[in-house]
Amino acid sequence: MSRQILATSALPYANGSIHLGHLVEYIQTDIWVRFQKLLGNKCLYMCADDTHGTPVMFSARRAGSTPEELIARMHAEHSADFAAFNIGFDHYYSTNSPENKELCELVYRRAREKGRIEEKEIAQAYCEKCGMFLPDRFIKGDCPRCGAPEQYGDSCEVCSAAYTPTELKNAHCAECGSAPVQKKTQHYFFRLSAMAAELQTWAASGHIQTEIRNKLQEWFRQGLQDWDISRDAPYFGFQIPGAENKYFYVWLDAPIGYIAATKNFCAQTGRDWEDIWLKPGWEIHHFIGKDILYFHTLFWPAMLLTAGLRTPDQVHIHGFLTINGEKMSKSRGTFIQARRYIDSGLNPEYLRYYYASKLGSSLNDLDLNIADFAAKVNSDLVNKLVNIGSRLGSITAKKLNGQLSAPDAAGRQILTEITAAQNYIIKAYDSLEYQQAVREIMRWADAANKYINDNEPWNKKNLEEAGAICTAGLNCLKILTAYIKPVLPVIAGGIEKFLNCKELNFSNAGAILINHPINVYEHLAKRVDEKEAARKLLG
Ligand code: 2FM
Ligand code: ZN
Repeated sequence: MSRQILATSALPYANGSIHLGHLVEYIQTDIWVRFQKLLGNKCLYMCADDTHGTPVMFSARRAGSTPEELIARMHAEHSADFAAFNIGFDHYYSTNSPENKELCELVYRRAREKGRIEEKEIAQAYCEKCGMFLPDRFIKGDCPRCGAPEQYGDSCEVCSAAYTPTELKNAHCAECGSAPVQKKTQHYFFRLSAMAAELQTWAASGHIQTEIRNKLQEWFRQGLQDWDISRDAPYFGFQIPGAENKYFYVWLDAPIGYIAATKNFCAQTGRDWEDIWLKPGWEIHHFIGKDILYFHTLFWPAMLLTAGLRTPDQVHIHGFLTINGEKMSKSRGTFIQARRYIDSGLNPEYLRYYYASKLGSSLNDLDLNIADFAAKVNSDLVNKLVNIGSRLGSITAKKLNGQLSAPDAAGRQILTEITAAQNYIIKAYDSLEYQQAVREIMRWADAANKYINDNEPWNKKNLEEAGAICTAGLNCLKILTAYIKPVLPVIAGGIEKFLNCKELNFSNAGAILINHPINVYEHLAKRVDEKEAARKLLG
């Protein structure tokens, strides 16, 4: 029985560009989704721009546009960047949509009906000049611990202290510089504290990596705080029904955006979104970074449980990207935007390959080391994989009339062995151990190259013998191409065209091409020059 899977990546904020750190997650998810599809499972990949909140409102104001104009521009920019990296969303939507509004209202209504919403008066920093309440990130001042100036209202970037905005010295509005006052306001809280037992049961039922489960236990032990889900006007977001000048906090509507994207997609494609989010039958998999764990493993299941919707089957959490061993940093020039990589002329599939070769299922950070990147692409993709095609393609064209024949016994033996590696590779992909899958594929690429080198088809006078070796070698390439296809869809497409075969997948990978005409080999991957790559990405 094939599986039915809905996969999501975190929705990127609409006020910033996609960078190589983001791409770890989109590439991780995309490989998994492609893998599931190639295995014959039904899999939908939903994503959207995360459009609401104060930062978007201010960015738009600074750019002299409306938030709607800004988010439309960013939607186009993000979509183009993702497309360049072959991130194959089934749907890329927006949280600023009618479906999302309706679903937020539904979740809120059900939460109210269940007594999970509480109104409380709180005091918050307010800028009289800007006429608005200030989120922590919009208040700046001197760090109460180390005295560093111009630190945000929630934490110090110099000494890492965490605090509340009221503790800041010389606090001022980040927009206009005036000192905020404390002002009382009525807020709506989601009673997370009432759901501790339910959430604990959910968290203990295998939906998250074990290392994360312990983190959650810590949160449960500390006790869950009720969650402030409202923001005062002016705010770019959805108004809370029945409340004047109050909006849903962006983190309430953002994950509901996963459902809204599904709903819009289903309406367009004649499906029923309730089959996915209401009834059993579909698995729901979220891919996120470790920074947004709290939202996805506490707030999000809490909302879903309250609303009577499906909770995630798996939340897959990954680590951060470092560049040459250090945190990405604007000042060090290591904050690499997706667009910069695209404009460098480096093949986007090289980054997919490099990330895959280093990704596992743990929360470890992933380092992009430019020297290692160049070495890996050159040695694995160019010298091992594509090299099989370029060497044997030219002999087949020149000596064998572009025609495969049948493999010899030794050739059959290696083909059987590569075919037998499939189960291991499938398990590795499915459990997000991509580095294991890639290592195994490259081990077999080595074996195929050894078979070709040992048999020297280029030296064979007997064309029948040369044909048997080329046939075996190119069939090895065919199987390996099917295996690496989730990572390298475009290069794989090029090899399919060269081999003149059907679109490869995990079921037809092992079927041997016999007495089969192939096409002329066209160049598929060029070497990376380390210095040039470093200059173009970092220089
Ligand atoms: O952290 C972020 O970048 C958020 N925009 C992620 C939102 S994911 C989901 F909840 F919508
Ligand atoms: Zn101000």
